[in-house]
Amino acid sequence: MDHFEYRDGRLFCEQIDLSELAHRAGTPLYVYSAATLLLHYDRLAQAFAELNPLICFSVKSCPNIHVLRLLASRGSGLDVVSGGELYRARMARVPMDKVVYAGVGKTDDEIRDALGRLGDDRHDPSHVPDADQPIGLFNIESESEFQTLASIARSLGAGTPEMASPEAALRVNPDVDPKTHKYTSTGLKETKFGVDLERARAFFARFGRDRSARLTGLHLHLGSPITDPNVYVRALEKSLALSDDLERDGFPICTLDIGGGFAADYTTGLAPSFDQYARAIVPMLRERAARGLRIILEPGRTICANAGVLLARVLYVKESGDRKFVVCDAGMHTLIRPALYGAFHFIWPAAVGPDHEPTERALRPNVQGTLEECDVVGPVCESGDFLAKDRPLPPVARGDLLTVFGAGAYGMSMASRYNSHPLPAEILVDGDQALVVRRRESYEDLVMHELEAEEL
Ligand code: LLP
Repeated sequence: MDHFEYRDGRLFCEQIDLSELAHRAGTPLYVYSAATLLLHYDRLAQAFAELNPLICFSVKSCPNIHVLRLLASRGSGLDVVSGGELYRARMARVPMDKVVYAGVGKTDDEIRDALGRLGDDRHDPSHVPDADQPIGLFNIESESEFQTLASIARSLGAGTPEMASPEAALRVNPDVDPKTHKYTSTGLKETKFGVDLERARAFFARFGRDRSARLTGLHLHLGSPITDPNVYVRALEKSLALSDDLERDGFPICTLDIGGGFAADYTTGLAPSFDQYARAIVPMLRERAARGLRIILEPGRTICANAGVLLARVLYVKESGDRKFVVCDAGMHTLIRPALYGAFHFIWPAAVGPDHEPTERALRPNVQGTLEECDVVGPVCESGDFLAKDRPLPPVARGDLLTVFGAGAYGMSMASRYNSHPLPAEILVDGDQALVVRRRESYEDLVMHELEAEEL
């Protein structure tokens, strides 16, 4: 359920007519619905309420600071994976104790920054809110990362009255197949993320009593998107058995971060509901949560994918061989998911006649009017630059506005300036108000870091 719907053939986001919006703001354009972001957040929070989890929205999915601020206003924390995302979290004024930090390649500076001690001119604390505040949890991905964290923390005086030792969770791979694209499968034994379950025991034996960094949690993130709730069940069975073993060995587990990966409805009815996920997961954790285990969730896509669309203008319609091409001003540089993962995004004109008003998002939605198979492609000089292949669409012409649905997650965050296309603008709609939350880049923006060549 989201707040994008056709009214008399015109697509609205909440109270805003998207054809009018695109006319004013230009294309390509990302548009987010505040009410949808909050609706998804609230539904997830309600479904898992019994566990009283800390929900840490995954910044990488939709990092605009206005989106982060909106979710934080509802109580959300954040899952970050880089110093840049941590900076965004601070600029969004999210309480630092609600920030968790994963990622296989944290640099020493990023670690210092997350400890609230970067303290150099790259990051002037007087300009960055809460720059001296440490984050809530480090999700550790390797032995050497833990040693680095502990040694940096020790050198800064962690474990003394002036500085508490950072809390860390070990990221484990329960080796359960998430049955998703291989590029976004992370919880298998042989991935670059985390450590396998056998190694986890040795890990705790070696580092579990360290005083400079407290290893008190387990973290998993299995992949994304996961449409089968049983994947979580199988992974939790293995991880909880590990947790019990560790407890028996004298390493009590206080935090269990079960990651993200909940699916989104790229086509109507594709994703299980929040309640379906919760029905599978909550019973496994209920008693432990009641006994004080802190549960963390790191949802990204399920909150923001269908809270955002990409609007693109049709530039040309052409034929080549037997194929018909709709060339528009958005492409792999604006939304790379179709090109990179073969991902499906429902695409439909933002204004249609009554015969073409869709009541569902599907490869071939149930409409009366005729449809024509086309490839929807972008302006980038690569054959892999497409948004859809063999896609049945109502007849479209130069100047029409296309809507790419489900583009709120991993859309703008993976957009690039390839072929020197400036990044698109982002709009956050709230009722009848449309706020430009990121202005469209200009050609000046493209070259601003290149104008002055300096000697090193
Ligand atoms: N936690 C961790 C540690 C993650 O690595 C991710 C996503 C998430 C949480 C959030 O996952 P979500 O709830 O959004 O599924 N670019 C790909 C997805 C990559 C996901 C990377 N990690 C895509 O467009 O499908």
